[in-house]
Amino acid sequence: MAARPLLRVEDLQLHYRTRRGIARAVDGVSFDIRANEALVVLGESGCGKSSLAKALLRILPRNVHSFRGQVMLGDTDVMALGDEAFRRDVQWTRVAMVMQAAMNALNPVVRVGEQVAEPLRVHAGWSRERARERVVRTFEQVGVATDFLQRYPFELSGGMRQRVVLAMALVTEPELVILDEPTSALDVLTQASIMNVLKRIKREQGTSFMLITHDVATSSEIADRVALMYAGQMVEVADADAFFHEPAHPYSQMLMASVPRLRQQTEPAPIPGQPPELIEPPAGCRFADRCPRRFDRCAREPEPLRVGERHHVRCWLHAGSGGAGGGGRA
Ligand SMILES: Nc1ncnc2c1ncn2[C@@H]1O[C@H](COP(=O)(O)OP(=O)(O)O)[C@@H](O)[C@H]1O
Ligand SMILES: [Mg+2]
Repeated sequence: MAARPLLRVEDLQLHYRTRRGIARAVDGVSFDIRANEALVVLGESGCGKSSLAKALLRILPRNVHSFRGQVMLGDTDVMALGDEAFRRDVQWTRVAMVMQAAMNALNPVVRVGEQVAEPLRVHAGWSRERARERVVRTFEQVGVATDFLQRYPFELSGGMRQRVVLAMALVTEPELVILDEPTSALDVLTQASIMNVLKRIKREQGTSFMLITHDVATSSEIADRVALMYAGQMVEVADADAFFHEPAHPYSQMLMASVPRLRQQTEPAPIPGQPPELIEPPAGCRFADRCPRRFDRCAREPEPLRVGERHHVRCWLHAGSGGAGGGGRA
């Protein structure tokens, strides 16, 4: 019997109300993450990655039109929890997040040590001394010297601020940490050292990660699993090895072909065309417009099809190519 997932998401939907209509930012997303597993979520800007992360942490804007689906965290039916119970029992304690551009959102007038202690002090009601001990340990884990506790954000480099933000997410020892483009504003060396911190924490603490990025190269270092999003949906969810070496969805194949390689003579080809609108997206497959392999069937929307062990693809090319028909989901 396979290991039970830590997080199980089924048919998650987060739609926004806008002046032009309903924007289907997260539109029927299903996946799971096991303990000590890192899922990398890839996808072009605007495909719904941040919306997915915010839906899981229930950090929602006012213009939500619909928010539904199934989210199980261990035995907890997350979507059944009221807001108060969710904030008390799940948000920041069991699931934490490093938000996109968070390192620029640190409070400029509060010492970073106090900011990192805040989830413990405010949410968990820890004493100042107990919180301080934990913060010191967390700073060690992320590679920030203890005397930085007393500093203000403006006294730190970008890389140090990003470590502080990471410490904020880790300080409660959550089971799952969601990172939304945690290294995209940093130089290559700093990116690499942050990825090393994540890998070490994963190894030493058994934490699970959902890492959102559009950088295939960086993500390949930590990924156990990969999900590729397109226009509010996951078009492929697979083990990292399968995704990087034998991607099944035409979009995944094109994405992988667009990643520069060391020994490649020719320039990698960019993917021509634009993603569709999330307001009234096309009726059939959302990638069909840009897909070199489209055929008649693509006028109908494909469900996620199972093509292997924990491997699902939203593409008619794979209908009937093994697995239990069309029903199974990641
Ligand atoms: N509060 C909101 N109201 C309306 N539309 C939004 C809101 N937040 C995001 N969107 C739209 O939802 C889509 C997905 O956005 P986002 O989740 O930020 O994508 P990504 O993180 O992949 O770039 C985009 O088209 C974006 O413009
Ligand atoms: Mg985003």
